[in-house]
Amino acid sequence: MDASILNYTVNDNVAKFLKQTHKLYINGKWVDSKSGKTFDVEDPATGKKISTCAAGDKNDIDLAVSAARKCFDSGKWHSVPPNEKGKIIWKIAELIDDHTEELAQLESLDNGKPVAIAAGADVALSSDIFRYMAGWATKIEGETIPISVPYTPGAQYHSYTLREPVGVVGQIIPWNFPLLMAAWKLSVALAAGCTIVLKPAEQTPLSALRLTEIINNSNLLPEGVLNVVTGFGEDAGAPLAAHPHVDKVAFTGSTEVGKLITKASAGNLKKVSLELGGKSPTIIFPDADIDAAIAGAASAIFFNHGQCCCAGSRLMAHEKVFDQVAEGISKIASNIKVGPGMDTSSEMGPLVSDEQFKKVSGYIESGKSEGGEIIAGGKYDNSSGGHFVHPTVFAKTDKDMSIVKEEIFGPVLCAQPFSDQDLDKIAEVANNTTYGLAASVWSQNISTAHKLAAKIRAGTVWVNCHNIFDASLPFGGYKESGWGREMGHEVLKNYTELKAVTVNL
Ligand code: NAI
Ligand code: MG
Repeated sequence: MDASILNYTVNDNVAKFLKQTHKLYINGKWVDSKSGKTFDVEDPATGKKISTCAAGDKNDIDLAVSAARKCFDSGKWHSVPPNEKGKIIWKIAELIDDHTEELAQLESLDNGKPVAIAAGADVALSSDIFRYMAGWATKIEGETIPISVPYTPGAQYHSYTLREPVGVVGQIIPWNFPLLMAAWKLSVALAAGCTIVLKPAEQTPLSALRLTEIINNSNLLPEGVLNVVTGFGEDAGAPLAAHPHVDKVAFTGSTEVGKLITKASAGNLKKVSLELGGKSPTIIFPDADIDAAIAGAASAIFFNHGQCCCAGSRLMAHEKVFDQVAEGISKIASNIKVGPGMDTSSEMGPLVSDEQFKKVSGYIESGKSEGGEIIAGGKYDNSSGGHFVHPTVFAKTDKDMSIVKEEIFGPVLCAQPFSDQDLDKIAEVANNTTYGLAASVWSQNISTAHKLAAKIRAGTVWVNCHNIFDASLPFGGYKESGWGREMGHEVLKNYTELKAVTVNL
C-alpha cells in the first residue's frame, strides 16, 4: 500500500496496520487463506484501496471451526474460573479504551463515519459491553427446583439446573458498526464460555482484525477460543452458517441473508439469533417539545448516515405540527456538512460502498418518480470516488411507495402527516411494516407515550429520545427484524443451554 493514498495524517499504528496484508486468525495463529486469495479494502471517502485482507472460504472456515471445536471440547476456556474469565474480558475493555484513537481512525477510514463519532460512540460502546459482560461471567447461574413427581410417591429428589455454554458459535457481522458489532457478539460468547469463529463484513474487516491483533498480542485467550475468518458472505459466511460442527450462529445484517441463514442452519438445527433490518417510525404529537422532537427526529435518521438498523426512517408527525417539523428537519439536513470521515469538520461521511451508494441513490430516484416531494437534499455525488449522499427529506410520502415500505439504509427520511387522535389508528400506521425493530414517540403526555409504547410491535420503543443504547438494555426485533435479543442479560440465553439435573436422594 502506498501511504500517500491517505489524505490524512493517521496514528503510527494505523499506518503500519494498513500496510500489512491481513491474514486469517485460526487457532491462535495468523495464517494465509488456503486459496491464497485476497481482497482489497477501500476508503469509502475516496474509493481508493487502503489495505488487503485474506479472502477466506469454506476450507478456511473448516479449519477455524475445527480449532474452535477442539478448544471447546477440551474445556480449556469454559473451565477457566468465572472470575478469571471476567478479568480477561475486562482487560479487553481496557485495551480497547487504550487504543481508542487508532481504532476510531481505522473505523472512520474503513466505514466512512466521522472519526469523532467512531471514538465517542463506536469505541466507547465497544469497551462498555466488554465491561458489562465481564460482570456476567460470574453470574451465569442455574436454580434449584423443588419437584413432586406424582408417579414415584415417597421418593425424594434434588433437582437443579446448570446453564452451560452453547458451544462453538459462528458470528457473522455487518459493516455499519464494525467494531461494535464484533464487541456485542464476542463479549457475550466469552462470558458464556463459548468458542468463536467471527466473520467480519467484507466491506469493513479492519477494526475487528486490529482488535484480534491486540487481544492476541496480550496473550489473553487460550488458542482456539477466538478465530477470525475474513471473506465474502457467500464464500465464508454461508459455510459458517451451514457448518455441522457449529452449535449456534449469531447474525446481524439484512433480512434477506437472515432468511438464508435460517435455511443453512437447518442441517444440524443449530441455534440461531438474528438482528435484521427495520423501517422504524418516529411519531411526533402536537404536545411534544417540538424543538427537541425536530432535533431528535433528524438525528434518528441521519446518525451514521442512516446506516442503522433502527434508523427512524418513517416520520409520522401530527398535521398540526407537520409543516413545522418537516421544515425544522429539512433545515438541519441542509446544514449537515458532508465530507470524509477523517476530516474533523465533517458531520456526515460517505456511505460505506458503491453498492450502498447505488442502492440509496436508486431509492431517491424511485421516490421522486413515485411522486415524493423532496424538501431537503436529494443530491448524491461519487465524482470524487467517494460515495456521498446528502441528507434527504421526502415530504408527501404515502404507505404504498417503495421508499416507505423498504429499508433504504441511507440518510433518507420519508415524512407523512397524521390526523388521528385514536392511538389504535396511529399504532396501525406505525405497525404497517414487515419489520419491528424500533420506534420513537415524542409527546409530553405520559399517558399517550406509555399507551402507544405498548401498542407498537417493535423490540425497542424510545420516548422523547431515539438511538439510546446501553450494554444492559436488550436490543432486537419483532417480526422480520429478527430472532432473540442482543445485549443485556437476555442475550446470555442465546449463548447458553439449560441442563436439568435430578438426583434421587
Ligand atoms: P448482508 O446481510 O449481505 O451482509 C451482512 C453480513 O452477512 C456480512 O458479513 C456478509 O458477508 C454476510 N453474508 C452475506 N451473504 C451471506 C450468506 N449467504 N451467508 C452468510 N453470510 C452472508 O448485508 P449487505 O449486503 O452488506 O447490505 C445489504 C442491505 O442489508 C443494506 O442495504 C441494509 O438494508 C441491510 N443491512 C442491515 C444491517 C443491520 O444492522 N440490520 C447491517 C448491514 C446491512
Ligand atoms: Mg449482501
